[in-house]
Amino acid sequence: MDGTSSSLPSEVDVVPQTPQLIALYTVIRDRETSRADFVFHADRIIRLLLEHALNYVPLVPRRVTTPVGAVYDGLAYGEKICGVSVVRAGEAFEHGLRQIARSVRIGKILMQRDERTAEPRMYWAKLPNDIASRWVLLMDPMVATGRSVSMAVAALLRAGVPQTRVLVVSMFACREGVEALLRAYPHVRLVTGAVDAGLTPDKYITPGVGDFGDLYFGTM
Ligand code: PRP
Ligand code: URA
Ligand code: MG
Repeated sequence: MDGTSSSLPSEVDVVPQTPQLIALYTVIRDRETSRADFVFHADRIIRLLLEHALNYVPLVPRRVTTPVGAVYDGLAYGEKICGVSVVRAGEAFEHGLRQIARSVRIGKILMQRDERTAEPRMYWAKLPNDIASRWVLLMDPMVATGRSVSMAVAALLRAGVPQTRVLVVSMFACREGVEALLRAYPHVRLVTGAVDAGLTPDKYITPGVGDFGDLYFGTM
């Protein structure tokens, strides 16, 4: 399984695998790619994923008049959203989200996987006060074992967000992580650009991209 949605639960939305998207992923997966190119192409993917995820936020009918005086029956956003980034790697999504939702509120959940056991530890969370009434774009590029994102979802639920309004947006996932997330939280939705073959023995997604946070922020 590589970037495909074959036999995945319906809560998993793998964005259309267009040639354009595959070309972007090819650049960031290539170990020879420079950091500038990695960031540039990752940012393009992030923007596509966020735009796709926004389709799950319900819209309301809106009638406008065009410059030629004709009526156009369209749609407009009817509900409030916010972003929540899983620090650190999820912060890479914040710029892309601000580009499509200018004054968006962005909460943060700081967690870190133990490098030896891959067990995540949560340090703190700072969320918008009214998050319970918003749709939440939970942003983390990697769903590997799924433990980090599950812990982040738990923090959102404690803050009163219903599972059905959690939209997890990731760049890479694998079946193990998807299953762990949906076993714990069957009503969240995962929007991702790639569902890869599996995990390496040290719990990195394979073929994957390596350590996303290190590559994006230049800390390798
Ligand atoms: C990475 C990634 C996820 C997590 C995924 O973060 O951003 O949060 O690992 O792994 P899991 O699904 O097995 O839990 P990491 O803890 O490496 O921190 P970083 O953002 O600083 O790279
Ligand atoms: N975190 C990463 O950055 N990459 C992986 O493959 C898994 C967790
Ligand atoms: Mg990391």
